[in-house]
Amino acid sequence: MWDDVKQLADGIGPRRIEDLFQNANRAAEFSLQASGMLFDYSKTQLDDQIRAALIKVAQDAGVEARRDEMFGGAQINETEGRAVLHTALRNLDGGAVLVDGTDVMPEVMATLRQMETVANEIRGSQITDVVNIGIGGSDLGPKMAAIALSPYHDGPRCHFVSNVDGADISDVLRGCDPATTMFIVASKTFTTIETMTNARTARDWLDHHGVSDSGRFVALSSNAAKAAEWGIPGDRVLGFEDWVGGRYSVWGPIGLTLMVAVGPDAFKAFLRGAQEMDRHFRAAPLHQNMPVLLALVGMFHNQVLGHATRAVLPYDNRLSRLPAYLQQLEMESNGKGVSMDGNPLSVHSGPVVWGEPGTNGQHAFYQLIHQGTRTVPCEFLVGAAGHEQDLRHHQDLLVANCLAQSEALMKGRSIEAARDIMRTKGLTGAELERQAAHRVFPGNRPSTTLIYPLLTPEVLGRIIALYEHRVFVEGVILGINSYDQWGVELGKELATSLGPVVTGRETAEGKDGSTRQLVEYVLLYR
Ligand code: F6P
Repeated sequence: MWDDVKQLADGIGPRRIEDLFQNANRAAEFSLQASGMLFDYSKTQLDDQIRAALIKVAQDAGVEARRDEMFGGAQINETEGRAVLHTALRNLDGGAVLVDGTDVMPEVMATLRQMETVANEIRGSQITDVVNIGIGGSDLGPKMAAIALSPYHDGPRCHFVSNVDGADISDVLRGCDPATTMFIVASKTFTTIETMTNARTARDWLDHHGVSDSGRFVALSSNAAKAAEWGIPGDRVLGFEDWVGGRYSVWGPIGLTLMVAVGPDAFKAFLRGAQEMDRHFRAAPLHQNMPVLLALVGMFHNQVLGHATRAVLPYDNRLSRLPAYLQQLEMESNGKGVSMDGNPLSVHSGPVVWGEPGTNGQHAFYQLIHQGTRTVPCEFLVGAAGHEQDLRHHQDLLVANCLAQSEALMKGRSIEAARDIMRTKGLTGAELERQAAHRVFPGNRPSTTLIYPLLTPEVLGRIIALYEHRVFVEGVILGINSYDQWGVELGKELATSLGPVVTGRETAEGKDGSTRQLVEYVLLYR
């Protein structure tokens, strides 16, 4: 499948990305616009032939047919026998979406109305603080989006507790008043140990302060029975179906805390933005399809050129949690070692995704990106404008820095240029050579830039849906199931068995020497 692309990549030789711009139209030819956003992938080694070969990879993998199956409600999550229909949650003015012959849209719209009712009730009440208790997809999505949309907050303060480390909930509750705080327990399964432990601690906290927990808990879950067992009345349980994966769930009830923060109108704008991207993904031909191109450029770097990691670098401070969100979205989805049929993958799984907002990262890890021995493909995101109209000079500096980084990565600095700089400082001879060598930037390092007008709810919805579909395309090409997550199970099982061991109730007998030693240490100090 990759042979043609690999052969073309082998032929790149010493070619520099910069030289590709001798084609005066390169920027326009190697970028595309959708939903008002511009995706520029011209600062990469893609040329016409490589791009055509990559698109053929997507065609041969059957991306379009699989995409239609997904939107059509087929059980593409084959290991769990489930459809994958998070797109139905934002199908605000779309048609019917069938699962096993039944249109799920009436239920989706009814749940959205229930969310609005609950959100408006909380927003209109005495509640000053809402604490979302959830982890993984039941935390990262709403938290990332709530931070991203902070200029739209007009509801109570919203907090997010995820870690089973008691420090997390303690630090949040310390700033809350038990009389005016409520809890949203977000868990698809309603069995996740971290979430249930934190929820119990929240209930104990109310109890300890003599406050009844009646009306103070809302559950967001696919498991209504478990929520009921936990004592949350049915009208306070917002449900969703198993065809919404945890890391794809921010669009439905799991987004309630976000809706409480920004209000139903802004939340629906977020959904509308995502729906626009869905429409683009379904209709645009492969070579003009933004999620497809984003996926193919990423796979070119990862699968063909062998770059094992990908940096996501938002020059938008409110996207500070986007890299963490994408880590789950991409690595839990495409970090698989076997293909759909159970055979070992013949290629690598998806890349390691990491990042931090610019300009902070510039003063931390960009040194390695510019001069380290390994190439790290970078994905920049930046808004043309910021919300702070009175601080336009900040935004100008931010944008200038973003553009400067992708330019510097591509162009680098030659030894001749470095020598010139040293000469102006009065250096000569061996010392000039030594100092100049440290100031060389190899350049020729690939990056892409996604630029959008302003981080509004619509734009955020578009960006997140873009990345979701990118993950889908990569998964189809890899031939894996992007929608299960068996790789998280073993650690959970072992943690359960180690629970009584670290408290000393059971011995560590049968465990390996390292684990026994660590347990002994814990027992000395706990
Ligand atoms: O452990 C992984 C995982 O299952 C994620 O896929 C999920 O987002 C997270 O745990 C939380 O699960 P739940 O929403 O069921 O509590």
